[in-house]
Amino acid sequence: MKIARTNHEVREAVANARMQGACIGFVPTMGFLHEGHLSLIRVARENGATFIVVSIFVNPTQFGPNEDFSRYPRDEERDRALLESEKTDLLFLPRVELMYPRGATTRIDAGAVARPLEGVRRPGHFEGVATVVAKLFNIVQPDLAAFGRKDAQQCAVIDRMTYDLDLPLQLVFGETVREHDGLAMSSRNSFLSAEERGKAPVLHRALRAGEEAITHGIHDVAEIEKLMHRVVAEEGGVEADYLAVVDPMTFEAPADFDRHVLVVGAVRIGRTRLIDNIRIFRW
Ligand code: PAJ
Repeated sequence: MKIARTNHEVREAVANARMQGACIGFVPTMGFLHEGHLSLIRVARENGATFIVVSIFVNPTQFGPNEDFSRYPRDEERDRALLESEKTDLLFLPRVELMYPRGATTRIDAGAVARPLEGVRRPGHFEGVATVVAKLFNIVQPDLAAFGRKDAQQCAVIDRMTYDLDLPLQLVFGETVREHDGLAMSSRNSFLSAEERGKAPVLHRALRAGEEAITHGIHDVAEIEKLMHRVVAEEGGVEADYLAVVDPMTFEAPADFDRHVLVVGAVRIGRTRLIDNIRIFRW
């Protein structure tokens, strides 16, 4: 696995691979890798990528002032070993000063889909995500890029940005990888104490309860949301941030239940904030 630390090094390695006929697949991450991240490498390959680029960059512009940027978990050595074992071709490790040199204040407005839910709770978050992802796309210039459905609103933001700005690449999405008890894998799970870790699956349980209600014909959004809140409240020690039924394109309440919907949620357990969602196709 090659390591690149500058735009130039990335472009050179990618240009070489392309000259040899490779299809460039890109998986952007913030590191502290787990099976969810690694599954995206496989998704990129299944969709035709033959040269895999992974970036690790804890992007300061997507963290709010009171969020966990400085304590976000990092373990470069372990990440490198995991990526080697997945036969990653190129690892891009940019420094903050390279991505955001002095005076770099241009931002991408992530549009309407970035405003509800996470957008309300994390002002500026999706602008930071859209900006860094657009920059990474421009540096790597991949043929396809893979994102995880665990971050459903992020997928919608990037999908919309790619379409609206005519970005010349294909997006592919990977299913959420979970622990055995349903908890979605996340780098932030490492913050949980043993007691908190025991409570964490309640988010997935609440979403499953919402899914079950919908598949059993309950299509009253307020009622479904109340039901999900009840599941979280019963656990105790877990604060629901939001639990909602939304249209997967807009992240607003669905106009009807004729097409597929998403149940999405965010909870706080101690100092840790977890998100998750389930897509529901048939009922
Ligand atoms: P990060 O949280 O490191 O996630 C990197 C990618 O892995 C994202 O596409 C995310 O959706 C996916 N992912 C995380 N957990 C997953 C799981 N349990 N199952 C499947 N996929 C999972 O998301 C970011 O970084 C950043 O916002 C980034 C896009 C890199 C921009 O900075």
